Amino acid sequence: MRSSFLLGAALPFTHGIRIIQSNDDGWAEVQARTFFSSLSATGHQVVLSAPAENQSGTGSSDATPTQVDADGCQYQSCPGGSPATGTNSSDTRLNYVNSYPVTSIKTGIDTTGPNLWNGAEAELAVTGPNVGSNVGPQAPFSGTIGAAVYAAHTAGIPAIAFSGRTGDPTAWNQPVPLQSQVYADLALNVTSTIIKSGTPYLPSDVFLNVNFGEVTSSKCTKASDFKFIATRINTGLFSAPDADYCGSTRLPWEADVIYLRSACYATISVGDANDKTTADAARQKVVLDKLKPILSCL
Ligand SMILES: *[C@@H]1O[C@H](CO)[C@@H](O)[C@H](O)[C@H]1NC(C)=O
Ligand SMILES: *[C@@H]1O[C@H](CO)[C@@H](O)[C@H](O)[C@H]1NC(C)=O
Ligand SMILES: *[C@@H]1O[C@H](CO)[C@@H](O)[C@H](O)[C@H]1NC(C)=O
Repeated sequence: MRSSFLLGAALPFTHGIRIIQSNDDGWAEVQARTFFSSLSATGHQVVLSAPAENQSGTGSSDATPTQVDADGCQYQSCPGGSPATGTNSSDTRLNYVNSYPVTSIKTGIDTTGPNLWNGAEAELAVTGPNVGSNVGPQAPFSGTIGAAVYAAHTAGIPAIAFSGRTGDPTAWNQPVPLQSQVYADLALNVTSTIIKSGTPYLPSDVFLNVNFGEVTSSKCTKASDFKFIATRINTGLFSAPDADYCGSTRLPWEADVIYLRSACYATISVGDANDKTTADAARQKVVLDKLKPILSCL
């Protein structure tokens, strides 16, 4: 027993799939770290490559990383004047990039991940869970979505963007807030369902935009309180019909479900990684079939 424990400690990864993770709130945000821990505990080979600072709202911006300024990384997670990219020396799966979310995930996909995976590439990209929703008109500005779309569109890696409505920025070394644990559990459920559905995990040039509704101290306090609903990113008023779902060919709008419904809902929209809008019905159907085991109707 002891020798296998030591072997496990020496080799960070033993099974599961290779997952690159990023976000826009910063590498030291507890919400992303909580999901990182859940994925790792499930046996996945996760590498976090995320901005050194909060980069909320920076969409698809991309720029060469620069030396960290005198204030250091967010929450004093690295000293002032640190290099443009850096790793946690006691856990090299945790990495910052002092630039935008897209730059961070690109660095993880091109360099950091393959270095830790014996040259192999990421099989799946996840971003977030973001602190705050990313629904409808917010999609083009979200760095969480920007990074997922870079992975899906430019790097050709299936990608899922996660965001949660409740919460405030919290450092990685603080107690895990209730909503961060609930959102990590929900994100793990979606990720596991997609992995279990087999490869290709998603159609090409598709990303998922997943949003989790409110968590309070008395309502929606655990993952099992939530229902997963298939939705659209934009309202679809003048769009071609959606895939068949719950007796309709018009999927609900993610913003309505997250903001106007009082039940505990998590929305999953099938996004077109070419332009961050809703994917066509044919690609929606492929994804909804994969998600069938967890989807409910409103
Ligand atoms: C670095 O990793 C160690 C070991 O997991 C952890 O205790 C520490 O809080 C981490 N620091 C940052 C900034 O990630
Ligand atoms: C990041 O900045 C945005 C606005 O620029 C703010 O709303 C958000 O709370 C900040 N998040 C973190 C993790 O500091
Ligand atoms: C995932 O979510 C579905 C639908 O809510 C639920 O039935 C299932 O038990 C969840 N799976 C896990 C592992 O939590």
